[in-house]
Amino acid sequence: MISLSNLKKFKTEGRKFSCLTCYDSSMAKAMEVAQVDTILIGDSVGMTMQGHDSTLPVTVADMAYHTACVRRANQHALIIADLPFMSYATPSDAIKNAREVMQAGAQMVKIEGGAWLADTVRTLTQNGVPVCMHLGLTPQSVHVFGGYKVQARTRETADQLIADCKALVEAGTAVLLLECVPEQVGREVAELFPHIPVIGIGAGRYTDAQVLVVQDMLGLTQGKVAKFVRNFMTDQSGSNAILDAFRAYHQAVIAGTFPSPEHTFQIEL
Ligand code: KIV
Repeated sequence: MISLSNLKKFKTEGRKFSCLTCYDSSMAKAMEVAQVDTILIGDSVGMTMQGHDSTLPVTVADMAYHTACVRRANQHALIIADLPFMSYATPSDAIKNAREVMQAGAQMVKIEGGAWLADTVRTLTQNGVPVCMHLGLTPQSVHVFGGYKVQARTRETADQLIADCKALVEAGTAVLLLECVPEQVGREVAELFPHIPVIGIGAGRYTDAQVLVVQDMLGLTQGKVAKFVRNFMTDQSGSNAILDAFRAYHQAVIAGTFPSPEHTFQIEL
């Protein structure tokens, strides 16, 4: 089973690693066979599986349920579970709710925000819970942003994001995840922390790992699809198409062929 030590070793060796969201046992088994390195039980489950228009309605019980479904079927990947909206507003809420998803099978929790969560990161880490910090476009704050928009588009806002990362790493953050930021910001953050793996989604080619929402990369998402998504089903055929799409994604991330420039935000800071 992949551990945090493996992710840190991957970073030191320059070996990129793959991550996909997953919410159920059948997909989790296919991801195990395809050797996907890490799985995120994302609160995107609110949109992909529950039919909501944001992640806000998702509960801790939902996250624990989906984490247990995935863990039962996959003994290979490191499993990260999201703590949902308002479930980590205080450090004591965070440890109470982290307990639920860790006991359901997660090896790490992900929370969204910046330097103001340093105490929460410290408390979680001291209580045996590794933390992945999600910065950039943080979907739980969609109503603050006024929509799903690229973040850190200026030198000033990029420096603010980098200052947040520094404070969070200082507090014990194990992994950073950047969503929808210019490629240059993804690169700067990955280079700044030699021992902290940085996962990107719409954060360019230079992060240490990539994550996609599984429905997006299987071409199941209807309507407008984000610029950073590649549909890995288009090259597949036959009865193992989904499994082969997971294999193709894993290989493309490791080889550095996904994302390509067309999936990145090239914005001059
Ligand atoms: O919930 C989720 O799927 C996520 C990814 C978009 C990174 O947080």
